[in-house]
Amino acid sequence: MAGKHVVLGVCGSIAAYKAVEVCRRLVDDGVHVSPVMTADAMRFLGPATLSALASEPVHDSLWSDTHPIPHTALGRSADVILVAPATATLLAKYAAGVADDLLTATLLATRAPVVVCPAMHTEMWEHPATADNVATLRRRGVLIVEPGVGRLAGGDEGAGRLAEVEEIVAAVGRLLSPPDLVGKTVLVTAGGTREALDPVRFLGNRSSGKQGEALAEEAAARGARVTLVTAADRPAPPGVEVVRVDTAADMESAVLTRAAGADIVIMAAAVADFRPKLAAEAKLRKADGLPEIVLEPTTDILAELGRRKRPGQVLVGFAAETGDVRTGAREKLRAKRLDLIVANDVTAEGAGFGHDTNAATLLDAGGNWTEVALTSKRALAAIVLDLVADLRRVVGGSPPREQGLGADTKGGT
Ligand code: CTP
Repeated sequence: MAGKHVVLGVCGSIAAYKAVEVCRRLVDDGVHVSPVMTADAMRFLGPATLSALASEPVHDSLWSDTHPIPHTALGRSADVILVAPATATLLAKYAAGVADDLLTATLLATRAPVVVCPAMHTEMWEHPATADNVATLRRRGVLIVEPGVGRLAGGDEGAGRLAEVEEIVAAVGRLLSPPDLVGKTVLVTAGGTREALDPVRFLGNRSSGKQGEALAEEAAARGARVTLVTAADRPAPPGVEVVRVDTAADMESAVLTRAAGADIVIMAAAVADFRPKLAAEAKLRKADGLPEIVLEPTTDILAELGRRKRPGQVLVGFAAETGDVRTGAREKLRAKRLDLIVANDVTAEGAGFGHDTNAATLLDAGGNWTEVALTSKRALAAIVLDLVADLRRVVGGSPPREQGLGADTKGGT
């Protein structure tokens, strides 16, 4: 990151004090940091603190700066603009294109990538207006570092707490480093498949599709050509081709036709293992008594991908566990001939299905374990792709390794 220029925007939030640590960390990494504070940020944080730690004094006005047009000067010279913390007002103004102070004007006057780290009370974060603004910004390519769950101002607890400093600095680092997946084709699956019982009912699972979506978004941000085959009904991530499927059989054909051309395949979907042998053509009626539902197995798509894996291709699987995560991970990695498996205990608080956060145990084919504590699904996606990029250096272009032999642990971190 050394030598790069980051404009650090700070808004009026109790979390403004954390911007000081973000600034210090960036400066320590050799980044030139230009701080911009809103008028409300000044109520929470004295500008002298940021001025002392940043690479130049705080900018706070469109009119009082020494440069005649400060917002274009800052916007054009920045390699990245980071807003941490970002209030609900900042999100609303930025989404609407309002530019009535130095920070919002700079955001409009830049072509640099932008990272926004929201922080606010849970009710404000979950309000549909905020959710719409976040979705708009995401669609335009803004990287949102999602808030975590924890203590908020006034002793409240809940979602809306500013992401951890490490996560914010890592997000900026990824945008500043050369994209490591340029020219690569990545196939990701997401969501839970639905197997019809009759025209109105299905057998399904609780997968939201958020983890696969975060992986697709992260891979696209790193320069890959990304296809997301998803059974989840959610908006397409920016820069990602989306193929929508419903059943395990749909997912099987969508994945198998595309996998041969992919350098990296990540099966994050929760695919049904069983489906009703026959879906009733008409709605099952109570009056007809309890239906007898006969199930049949679906194809294990990931196992099939393992059999078909071509030299140099990296294959990543997930393991949803409700007990001994490491044993499940080791067995699935070996059985399905994977290069990496991301296992989680779906019963753990804040992790797995439906949440915005996740915690995971990762195992690669060389037997290396990585423990990831509860973090955002996007942050976990970044860790998975870092490991995939490392694996590609090992397997890429070289003859295929013996798969699944590295089940010994080298100790967790
Ligand atoms: N998977 C798949 N096709 C299936 C079932 C699972 O491709 N029919 C993939 C999932 O996408 C995931 C991995 O296999 O990447 C592991 O899925 P999981 O449900 O944890 O395990 P299973 O192999 O189905 O085994 P079990 O349900 O017995 O734990």
